[in-house]
Formats: sequence, C-alpha cells, structure tokens
Amino acid sequence: MVNLNINIPSQEKNYPIIIEHNNIEELKLKILSCVRGTKFLVVISEKVDKLYGKILGFNKSEKFVLKDGEKEKNFNNYKKIINKALQMELTRQDAIIAIGGGVVGDIAGFAASTYMRGIDFIQVPTTLLACVDSSVGGKVAIDSEHGKNLIGSFYQPKIVFINTNFLKTLDERQFKTGLGEVVKYIFIEKSCKCKEELNFTNFITENTDKILSKDLKILEQLIEICIKLKISVVEHDEQEEGLRKILNFGHTYAHAIEKITKYKKYTHGEAVVKGILFAFNLAEKRGLIDKNYKFFAEDILRKFDFKKLPDFPKEKIISAMKSDKKATSNKIIFILPVNYSLVDEFALDNEEIF
Ligand code: GLY
Repeated sequence: MVNLNINIPSQEKNYPIIIEHNNIEELKLKILSCVRGTKFLVVISEKVDKLYGKILGFNKSEKFVLKDGEKEKNFNNYKKIINKALQMELTRQDAIIAIGGGVVGDIAGFAASTYMRGIDFIQVPTTLLACVDSSVGGKVAIDSEHGKNLIGSFYQPKIVFINTNFLKTLDERQFKTGLGEVVKYIFIEKSCKCKEELNFTNFITENTDKILSKDLKILEQLIEICIKLKISVVEHDEQEEGLRKILNFGHTYAHAIEKITKYKKYTHGEAVVKGILFAFNLAEKRGLIDKNYKFFAEDILRKFDFKKLPDFPKEKIISAMKSDKKATSNKIIFILPVNYSLVDEFALDNEEIF
C-alpha cells in the first residue's frame, strides 16, 4: 500500500491518496470510516456497478447509478444527483462518494461542491485515466452544449482510494485512453517541479511490456509516479494560474478533435496522444526542439500502439481551439516541448500553428 498526501496551501487543505491492491470487499468499510455524518450518496458508474456492485455492498437506496459516457456528464444528471441528495436529506456532515471513471468523479464532485455550498467528497477512481489524472487535483465539472467542463469548480476530495484490482476488468480501449494521459507525464516530468527524482522516462521504457500486459505491481508504481508528479504541480498552482497549465500538454489539439467529432468518435486519451504528436511537430517546426527529440517521442508512443487518428481539417481545428475556455482573445495557448521532459507555454496566432 502506498499512502501519498497532497497539501493545498491556499485552502489549508491536506488529503491522502491511497494506492492499494487489497480486496475490493474491504473498501466499503474504509470509505465509510471517512464519512463524518450518518448518511452518504454513492454515485457509481453503471459498468462498475454491474461488475462490482455486489462486492462493494452498497444498498440500492444509497446509490445513484450513472450510465457510461461523456454525454452523461450533463446538467440533467447533475440535477438528479442533487435531488437524490435532497430526498435522502444529506446534511453538511454527510458525503458524496464517486466510484467510477472521470465522468463519475467530475459530476459527483461538482454535485458535492455545490450541494449545501459543499459537502465532503470521496473519490474512488476505477479507470486508469481517473487514477492518474482526474481523481487528484480537484477539478470537477459538467459539460454544456457549448463545450466540455464549462460549468465547474475547484473542489478537492477528502480522500482518494485507488484500488488497482478495478483495472483488471478495464477494457482495452479504456486502458489505452488512460495510457494516453500517462505518457504525457514523460514529456512534462522536469517541468512538474517535483522534489523527488522519479525518472519516469526510464521507468516507462524499461516496463513498456509489463504496462501493456497490465502487470498490477508495475501499474501501481506507474500510478504512484504520475500522482506524485500531479501532486507537485497542483501544490504549486491549484487553480491553473501558472504551472498547472503544463498538464494540458497535448490537450489544445485534443480538445479541438473531441469537439469537432462531438465527443463520440475518439476517447480523450486517443485525442491526447494525437495532440502530443501535433505538439512535437509544431515545436520542431518552430525550432524549439531538434528532430532527435521528436523521433524519441514518436518512438515511445509507437511502442504503446495507440490508435492512429487522421489529420483533421485545419479550419475546423482552429475554430474549435479558439472556442476553448483556455484560449485568450486572439491567441491559442499551446504547451510545447522545449527540451527532454521540459515544456513551456506559448500563445500563438493561427498562422504560427499550421
Ligand atoms: N486534468 C488536468 C488538470 O487536472 O489540471
């Protein structure tokens, strides 16, 4: 078991992130020992509920089962979760518990952040993507018809329980989408300002096969490294005023792909990998990195055999990028590689991008 801790100075908030592979049967007791009140609402992914509902042991009346898919992260489901919490008469001592992937964590977290001006929130991520990214750092949100994550807040959980046993049943596509966020950390590692030398590039290159075959011991170490890097970034800059922007490496182009394909055709991680490749090409074109580093990055990504996405029409990409909430008035913000594991922020005009 690994017990990490994140400290958000601006909120005087400190919470543990536990990574373990103990029996899932034991989780309920551990989760409930963190609830201060007498009631709680579990927001759980439909898939996870089907596979693990019995083992987890929560009653039907304590659960809100959310169908899978980004489209479920909507206002209507948010309203249903809040109404369920109201019907259950949850008080400020009680808690909302998210068990599932990023969609569940985001919508349940947003409900927790707004219900009675905020009640305790417990994250139990069950996908690789949620383990290495969305469950840590407090970004919670729902989507609107105008775009992804447009209604949200920064709301840190009380505790995060990661149990790698959930990853055993993750389908190949979902596993690979998590790896899309994992490989991102290779290229931003030194920019994360983590005090500990983690050598993520070596870890990844030495263990690629074991990662791909879901060796749970290796996955546990992989999650630990990614979370340590994320903790360092979020501790420096919770609200994305500076350093946290580096976590958007590969995301400017990825968000545009997701938007023009209506969040249906590709998973987030698939789009992020394409976005990372785009960022490397752009950085090389602008003379920020040499060809060798670009080839090195392409080589690592090739080994993971990610889904190959086509090139998208330039005009559509530009217009989608401009409507992103991270774009400033005229310029598009890109995080680009500048050296091995180092990135920087650039505000670019259209003609500087293509
Ligand atoms: N998913 C990027 C962040 O948490 O900032």
